[in-house]
Amino acid sequence: RVAYVNGQYVPHSQAAVHIEDRGYQFSDGVYEVCEIWKGHIVDMGAHLDRLDRSLRELQIKAPMSRAALSHVMKEVISLNRVKEGIIYMQVTRGVAVRDHYFPSDDTPPSVVMTAKSINSQKLDQIAAKGVGVITVEENRWDRVDIKTVGLLPNVLAKQKAKVAGAREAWFVDKDGLVTEGGSTNAWIILSNGTLVTRPANHGILKGITRAGVLKLAEMNGLSVEERGFSIDEAKSAKEAFITSASGIVMPVVKIDETILGDGKPGPIVQDLRKSFHDASE
Ligand code: PDD
Repeated sequence: RVAYVNGQYVPHSQAAVHIEDRGYQFSDGVYEVCEIWKGHIVDMGAHLDRLDRSLRELQIKAPMSRAALSHVMKEVISLNRVKEGIIYMQVTRGVAVRDHYFPSDDTPPSVVMTAKSINSQKLDQIAAKGVGVITVEENRWDRVDIKTVGLLPNVLAKQKAKVAGAREAWFVDKDGLVTEGGSTNAWIILSNGTLVTRPANHGILKGITRAGVLKLAEMNGLSVEERGFSIDEAKSAKEAFITSASGIVMPVVKIDETILGDGKPGPIVQDLRKSFHDASE
């Protein structure tokens, strides 16, 4: 495997950044995960737009032009011969002797990129059964719309889910409404077929896959309500699912100890999963 690190393609096993990288010391950086499907990057423009926005919000300089970034992305895919998988890219405020204040203006941001294959058959098998989610108290900061590498609450929540035999943890805010999962957006489907997902404000990451599902729903004439939903409403929903670049549409069949419907992925979510790539670019 080959990784891109600050201008060079290096063996993955030797790819490293400096110990005084701001990402390492302060989580002072942002990232993107893009899906690779049939050898091409799904919704690349939207991912680069979101990266731009995350960088702007944190006043981190863009490490290179958009064209250069997309060139490196394609190079990393081809060097690793990935057909179905994901790209990971991370940009931090760079390397400087540890000090909370921003380093001097001439400090270049650090950029790394990796690509790896995903066993899509295995993912399809998981999707065919459906997954469980647990619920945890929302304990993240109020700017989770920025895709930062500061993911400790997400890591702890997802590990708790794993120990409980679930795949994801849904954060629940102080009003009792689900915000999103540790690394996915959260959706339910009402008995009348309406999709419900939280509006994309500062309380969730505005998922690229979420946008794809919204577009697909419109194409398929499904109605959508962008609003918060409670755990009780979710537990009595007909279907539920989570979305992310790494799992696309993943049916949820269990929330905490409650089995949804007959415990199998429902028809609407199965259809969304099957047709997802029709609506992506
Ligand atoms: N996670 N919400 C959170 C907190 C996320 O970390 C992610 C993505 C999403 C879904 O966004 P998208 O559809 O653009 O992937 C929602 C990535 C996959 C990760 O951290 O691995």
